[in-house]
Amino acid sequence: MGRLALTLSLMLCAASVAAQDFATLKGHGGPIMGIAVSPSGQVATGSFDNSVGLWTGDTPRWLEGHAAAVTALAWGPEGTLVSGGDDFAVRVWGESPRVLGQHQGKVASLAVSPDGRTVASGSWDGSVMLWPLDEGAGTALPAPGAGVNALAFDGPGTLYAATMAGALLRYDLTTGEAPVAIVQHGFGINRLARGPGWIAYGAVDGGTRVIDLTTGAQIADLTLDRRPILAMSYNPPSQQLAVGDGEGYIMIVDTERWQITRDFRATRQGPVWALAFSPDGSVIHAGGLDDVAYSWPVELLDVFEPGISGERSFLRAAETMPNGERQFMRKCSICHALTPGPSRKAGPTLHGVFGRPAGSVPGYSYSPTLDDSDIIWNETTIDALFDQGPDHYIPGSKMPMQVIAGGSDRADLIDYLKQATKGE
Ligand code: HEC
Repeated sequence: MGRLALTLSLMLCAASVAAQDFATLKGHGGPIMGIAVSPSGQVATGSFDNSVGLWTGDTPRWLEGHAAAVTALAWGPEGTLVSGGDDFAVRVWGESPRVLGQHQGKVASLAVSPDGRTVASGSWDGSVMLWPLDEGAGTALPAPGAGVNALAFDGPGTLYAATMAGALLRYDLTTGEAPVAIVQHGFGINRLARGPGWIAYGAVDGGTRVIDLTTGAQIADLTLDRRPILAMSYNPPSQQLAVGDGEGYIMIVDTERWQITRDFRATRQGPVWALAFSPDGSVIHAGGLDDVAYSWPVELLDVFEPGISGERSFLRAAETMPNGERQFMRKCSICHALTPGPSRKAGPTLHGVFGRPAGSVPGYSYSPTLDDSDIIWNETTIDALFDQGPDHYIPGSKMPMQVIAGGSDRADLIDYLKQATKGE
């Protein structure tokens, strides 16, 4: 398919995608390092291509000004957006875009105070700065002792900072005194997320822990076998914490029970660098090496079932359900029915799919890609679809990117589908 046709079909599909659907935000010319969602749900992305993308639906507006990769983003009051970059600059966008200030190293983290008056920026130059958002000069906080990767406010008077030396520091902004280390992790801490009464941190060695802010005690250890932790986001209404790592997984944690509820390979290759929830917590926006940001409805993510070792395991449910059926229930059933006739699901029914030309279920409105395709669905083509992923096998399709990496999982799924799609 030509580039124009591809672009057109992408635009057409995007227009037909409902709010809760998987979506991709396409347009950046490089990997995505930062994502922030405003209280009204507007998504901002920061990229290696030096620009900030401000998205209305899937249409970007580009904010240009940084002279290097944009690495950190935060929303302030009334649509103010703050960005920091590899050009060491902290910029504010809005009515009158300007440079708020300059570090001497990469700006790795930004946080806006709860009263909306101050931006804190943390840099690999080993400094934390406070910048008034209306006007006036910035002030440096007492030195954190190492490069700063993450910041989080707790009310207007307390700021937490995580350092490359593995310290989680608490600044009392009312006294201006040197910070107190509440955790010494031993490996660099990359990310912080603060919830009611607790703070979660994610580290270079994969350590993912939660600390009670009153007692300083550890209240949860969510560490899996993946490292490093590169992204975190907390959504108060749904009480969900999302964690993204260097191996491309997103896990979702129910913070009421401190249980991992979902765990999902979310990128084709490489790390998850950026995560942010939609305001109600139903969608998680993710960015990484790909030039697109993915918006996953949380309910589409794989359900997590802890095994004996704490790793993802298929043992338990396999007792009750054959693997092929499990694959279908987890990865397809939310969008595909197996019964004949119209369904209210997002995808066409898979009833009778073997031997059927692509794009041929009557009454289903396919993307142009499938309408024009000459694929016949059979063992080989369905295997290729999930070996390569829909975004490669049928580019422009409305079906979300997903790869089933295990050849035997694909074979089991296909065996199951052969049976389940031929009933009366
Ligand atoms: C988030 C929703 C979603 C999920 C999950 C999903 N699909 Fe789809 N699927 C779709 C949509 C939407 C289409 C139509 C694509 C188009 O028109 O471009 C589709 C199309 C298809 C087609 C082509 C059907 C045809 O009539 O041409 C097959 C085959 C298919 N999906 C199989 C699967 C299987 C197997 C899984 C699980 C591994 C799966 N899908 C998971 C949404 C989904």
